[in-house]
Amino acid sequence: LVLVVDFGAQYAQLIARRVREANVYSEIVPHTMPVAEMLARGPKAIVLSGGPSSVYEEGAPSLDGALFEGDVPVFGMCYGFQVMAQELGGTVSPTGAREYGRTPVDVVEAGTLLAGVPEHHNVWMSHGDSVTAAPEGFTLLASTLGTPVAAFEDVARGYAGVQWHPEVLHTEHGQKVLEHFLLDIAGCRPTWTMLNIVDEQVGRIREQIGEGRAICALSGGVDSAVAAAIVQRAIGDRLTCVYVDHGMMRLGETEQVRSDFEAVFDTLDVVDAGDQFLGALEGIHDPEEKRKIIGREFIRTFEAAEARVFGDASDATTAYLVQGTLYPDVVESGGGAGTSNIKSHHNVGGLPDDLQFELVEPLRTLFKDEVRMVGEQLGLPPTMVWRQPFPGPGLGIRIIGEVTRERLDILRQADAIARAELTAAGLDRDIWQFPVVLLADVRSVGVQGDGRTYGHPVVLRPVTSEDAMTADWARLPYDLLEKISTRITNEVREVNRVTVDITSKPPGTIEWE
Ligand code: XMP
Repeated sequence: LVLVVDFGAQYAQLIARRVREANVYSEIVPHTMPVAEMLARGPKAIVLSGGPSSVYEEGAPSLDGALFEGDVPVFGMCYGFQVMAQELGGTVSPTGAREYGRTPVDVVEAGTLLAGVPEHHNVWMSHGDSVTAAPEGFTLLASTLGTPVAAFEDVARGYAGVQWHPEVLHTEHGQKVLEHFLLDIAGCRPTWTMLNIVDEQVGRIREQIGEGRAICALSGGVDSAVAAAIVQRAIGDRLTCVYVDHGMMRLGETEQVRSDFEAVFDTLDVVDAGDQFLGALEGIHDPEEKRKIIGREFIRTFEAAEARVFGDASDATTAYLVQGTLYPDVVESGGGAGTSNIKSHHNVGGLPDDLQFELVEPLRTLFKDEVRMVGEQLGLPPTMVWRQPFPGPGLGIRIIGEVTRERLDILRQADAIARAELTAAGLDRDIWQFPVVLLADVRSVGVQGDGRTYGHPVVLRPVTSEDAMTADWARLPYDLLEKISTRITNEVREVNRVTVDITSKPPGTIEWE
């Protein structure tokens, strides 16, 4: 067990994920947990995460020095590095030299931590203060222009740290550095696999649900499918899967989901709720309002399904709802410590206040690519595991403006063309997601067959990503874009203009709403 001490914001989960990638089991604990309690868990190592930019900031989280009295190896990153330096007798100074983003680092001495890492490489930084003197007994390993002490280690005591963020993708050799600490300095054994997550969750779910029953909200995507498969392992046929067709699915999607899922799950209850959802969305333009309404209607539909499936049996016991919520959904909905609400994901921030269900969310700490690995381990079919992400609110948040049946039909046709051409080009696996967005409240003038048209634009939004937390616009081949554009403007009467979104995330998000 490796404990990741969370000093705030979005870093800790990403670190935990990188530790898992090194095949070592990890858990996150808040920095407020008493050190005695941390040590009582018997960790093989402790990782201190990043956090606020200065140890001098008012209310900056601190650490009990007792952590260093046990003989547990410790790795500090960014803020955790500074806290560690300060606690062990080094010096942290507000040098005024701030470093944000990509920063070149010079390796002075490789030691154990930086073994095999190039002498000059780029890392991701985000800090104000700097460590200006390493604590006694430590070897200085690296520095940057603004940070004299950017990495150090004391292998004999099992301590090491870096000023940068080895956990982010933009840091070169970050995973290697983390593995040097875990395996070579702390002596952890790389024996943990994704399959352990399944066993662990199955145990937890049995404990949570007991002899009760649960329904699972299947969306057709990989997250809810994996969540359902895990819960099915835990409670067998006391799980009922419900798929809600809210009228905002893509062309042919409901039929596809039905046939895919009936092959894997014992029970699948398909609910046709198009009228209900579209009625509730009438006259609504605001994205957050749409999301909240959709989140609420989902829950109402599940409540009705629960009553229908379980009847009186559910009166006496708690009703459980299984959702495939992932960590990024939680963060974006403002659920991480100290994070702000970017958009209310329908299954997190969009839940109604009077929720009657107790939630079961076995994937809440995972990222999508990890969920895919779990899905493969569980033997789910590749079409299910590798399906591109599609948001729960469906096309409803890809129509900019009010959602109507007519607009949905237009978008469905354009979307089907884009998807078919992407598949024909063999690019499905290279592209993370390919939303098509209808600018329903915008019209532009065009000319077709010698006549004037006054139609709607659609936006193609192909992106590449690792985990949807950040994304880049995908450089699709021009001839593919041309084919999609020509087909959409020829075949979808109301669309006379096709554009491509070339914004990364940040500053954009993947979806337009
Ligand atoms: P954004 O647009 O925030 O999206 O960059 C990140 C990922 O999340 C998906 N997404 C959602 N998924 N319910 C979902 O199940 C939602 O409310 C929701 N909003 C966005 C989006 O498609 C992308 O994969």
